[in-house]
Amino acid sequence: MAEQFLLKRAVLTGIGAYLPEQILTNEDMAKRVDTSDDWIVERTGIRQRHFAAPHETAAYMGAEAGRRAMEQAGLKPEALGAIIVATSTPDQAFPATAVRIQAALGAKKAFGFDLSAACSGFIYGLSVADAMLRAGQVRSVLIIGSEVYSRILNFEDRTTCVLFGDGAGAVLLETREVEKAGPGLLSTHLYADGTLGDILYVDGATGQKDKPCHLVMHGREVFRHAVNLLAGAVNDALAENSLTPADIDLLVPHQANRRIIDGVGKKLGLPAERVVVTVDKHANTSAASVPLALASAVAEGRAKPGQLLLLEALGGGLTWGSALLRL
Ligand code: ACO
Repeated sequence: MAEQFLLKRAVLTGIGAYLPEQILTNEDMAKRVDTSDDWIVERTGIRQRHFAAPHETAAYMGAEAGRRAMEQAGLKPEALGAIIVATSTPDQAFPATAVRIQAALGAKKAFGFDLSAACSGFIYGLSVADAMLRAGQVRSVLIIGSEVYSRILNFEDRTTCVLFGDGAGAVLLETREVEKAGPGLLSTHLYADGTLGDILYVDGATGQKDKPCHLVMHGREVFRHAVNLLAGAVNDALAENSLTPADIDLLVPHQANRRIIDGVGKKLGLPAERVVVTVDKHANTSAASVPLALASAVAEGRAKPGQLLLLEALGGGLTWGSALLRL
């Protein structure tokens, strides 16, 4: 009998999402700032966004999304090994949002920490979790992206305040021994260029005295870099795995802007039915955007077991990255 080689991989066993109840359409935004549905749809593809109520913090929403992912996987909270939360809008400077979520879930044995990489935070989180799982440090990691950008938007700046929304998405990764063609994370690629830090940032934090705390973006500059950098991250992922775009069943991109999503899809030659788009419904939810898009593709039956998914994101830093995941 032929000997079968098994590989240790981080396999996605559960996924969860949480979106605040309150929805603001572009028409609602036009009542607050000088804008229009036509302008927003034409430049970004966004039609509506969810805004959090006061009790819907990053920890609250992240715990809900995390709980749903754990329930789907059938993993008891006390069996969880670690929690990584990607967020730029934590409830507090410390304790970490991840530790608040640990308490909310009753995941007594899990350790946890927050990760700050803006919109790329979830891809960074996948990469860190993958390394921890393959090294054998833990056997399960909950990776959560949770954001309340409505609390850092400058409603005097119509160019940025119409682009973002709130929400949380979570995936549970667990160690499994699988065949080469089996499920799991195949690779992650991370990048950063701090010389571009001033084109997208938040102008304050708890370490700064008497500073406002608003998101600032030079949209044209971000746009100029986004498609090429993301295409590079995607090509590196394909090259490392000796794959071509034809092997990708679904592209799950960061949901910042329809034109950036279409630009990357076009560079890869992927038809629209193989690209997940949720920016119309969620707007840009930063670190929550990729897991929310993935959760929506799974819920709609578009993402199925056995399929090869390519995830990518770019955000403040600049930071960006890609992940290849077989469901
Ligand atoms: N409604 C109506 N008019 C507006 C609005 C608005 N909300 N915002 C700006 N305008 C006007 C401007 O005042 C300007 O008018 P003018 O020509 O009379 O001066 C005109 O529209 C064009 O403004 P620009 O800022 O040059 O608009 P641009 O065409 O660059 O589009 C946008 C702006 C949509 C932000 C674009 O630059 C973009 O998509 N950038 C990428 C940003 C992005 O997606 N970032 C997220 C990635 S990173 C992350 O996720 C954090």
